[in-house]
Amino acid sequence: MNNKIIIINGPNLNLLGEREQSQYGSVTFEKLKEKCLKKTNELKIDAEFFQSNIEGEIVTKIQEARKNFDGMIINAAAFTHTSVAIRDSLDLFKKPIIEVHISNIYKREEFRHKSLISDVVNGGIFGLGPEGYILAIISLEKILKDEN
Ligand code: DQA
Repeated sequence: MNNKIIIINGPNLNLLGEREQSQYGSVTFEKLKEKCLKKTNELKIDAEFFQSNIEGEIVTKIQEARKNFDGMIINAAAFTHTSVAIRDSLDLFKKPIIEVHISNIYKREEFRHKSLISDVVNGGIFGLGPEGYILAIISLEKILKDEN
């Protein structure tokens, strides 16, 4: 059976392509979704691509993912820097998680330098643009393959 992964996106990422292109590039959210699902198809992984602007919805999604998914990629966006609730739900997931940021959060405002989730995930990718999602998919596939 194929591995199943979920790619979770936090607030304002639905506006990719429109928001701060200098940080996030010109790829739209729909295009990013398409590219990610093309890659997961190629690697024979079943994937769900999810976005929410609402913290509680993301927490619920992570809780539910414990039953249905083998691994997770998360760009928690602004909640990365603020949400103990998302951090705690990630800690309960108990399966591989990769954190992604499109921009280099360490080159930006100081409030973005702190991620509340980095120490409860396997690893992370930041500052490599939307391509970071593809690299995360490749890494997660390898982690899951090595587990089996
Ligand atoms: C982001 C970085 C966050 O600081 C910011 O709030 C985002 C996007 C990124 O992908 O670079 O919304 O997670």
